[in-house]
Amino acid sequence: MAHPTNWLEVDLDAVRANAQTVRAILPHPAELWAVIKADAYGHGAVEVARALTQPHPVAQRLIVATLDEAVTLCEAGIGASLMTLYPYTYPDEWETAHHYQIEGVIDSVEGYQQACRLAERNGWLLKTHLEIDTGMSRLGIPATQVERFAEQWTPNAPLQIVSVFTHFASADSDNTLTRQQLETFLEAVRLLKARGFPSVPLHACASAGILNLPDGTLDAVRCGLMVYGVMPTSGTEHPLAQRLKPALTWRARVLSVREIPAGQGVSYGWRFRAPRPMKVATLGVGYADGYPIGLSNQTPIALGGRVVRQIGRICMDMLMVDATEVPDLQVGDCATLVGRDGEAEVRIETLAQILDTTPHELTTRLGSRPHRRFRVGALV
Ligand SMILES: Cc1ncc(COP(=O)(O)O)c(C=O)c1O
Repeated sequence: MAHPTNWLEVDLDAVRANAQTVRAILPHPAELWAVIKADAYGHGAVEVARALTQPHPVAQRLIVATLDEAVTLCEAGIGASLMTLYPYTYPDEWETAHHYQIEGVIDSVEGYQQACRLAERNGWLLKTHLEIDTGMSRLGIPATQVERFAEQWTPNAPLQIVSVFTHFASADSDNTLTRQQLETFLEAVRLLKARGFPSVPLHACASAGILNLPDGTLDAVRCGLMVYGVMPTSGTEHPLAQRLKPALTWRARVLSVREIPAGQGVSYGWRFRAPRPMKVATLGVGYADGYPIGLSNQTPIALGGRVVRQIGRICMDMLMVDATEVPDLQVGDCATLVGRDGEAEVRIETLAQILDTTPHELTTRLGSRPHRRFRVGALV
């Protein structure tokens, strides 16, 4: 029988509880739309979607990036409203969206016209979300073109716009810019309404916006990171960090333990040399599993209930740690790369800070090799 050398434990109860906690801290009643793109940030999209929607929904809508991701959820029997963030390029993408009742995004005036024509020709009724670009310069109708959109929009088109949204560029770092984006957005919405556009839910905030611009939470929030119990870069000191529970624990097996003399090099290139006699443990996890090579020689790892240091260059399938202070360490013991081991905890936010990246990048890069074990009350 093959045993995994590293695996992810995903606490689905924590996912559910986090969604409820985030919703409870919003300054006024608003819906929580859970962002579960990129395989629910590496946590497993189908399982996370089930946890958020059954036995009763704690998220009112699920958001993915691609049509493929949405179709996978539909085929797995997820019955929730599903929104995709990518605009569709080809007519058959709209056909698929119609078939599965997936809600697409309207990102340009031309896209709106094309989708209306398709819907009319085929007798479809499409549900969509209108994105307005207020400064991200990525997707959405530029705020300056909303007037043009309003001229093309018709209330009786077979394309229903069920929400209007924007996305903040610097919610983690620049509140002045975020506030300006919010005002530009609300101005665009006023213009639409003046042209007869109906009142539909408005949304702008993702995790960092929820923390840093609470009055921007509007009618719904699109929350990813905090649903998984991970704080955005600006939020690690926020009191909410104590209330959310990280859903992900990543563990790896000790494959080998050895004593090395002072001066001995470790791993490729000998970028680490033992300053004294040391005990080295080799773990069955490497960059092919999603543990970034950039963390080499500097990352904390929990082992034997204490935090130890990774040493030497991280290999494709293995990495080494300084286990000198860990008594009675045996081959087959378990190290914790992310999560808690007794009193010792390694948070994904810490790894992101070391790499000067976002926690999003780390979790979405988790490879397909680590097994995922899901916990709902007990591990299944
Ligand atoms: C448009 C949009 N909304 C919401 C989110 C969720 O962001 P977060 O995970 O920081 O809550 C993302 C994430 O990339 C996004 O692209």
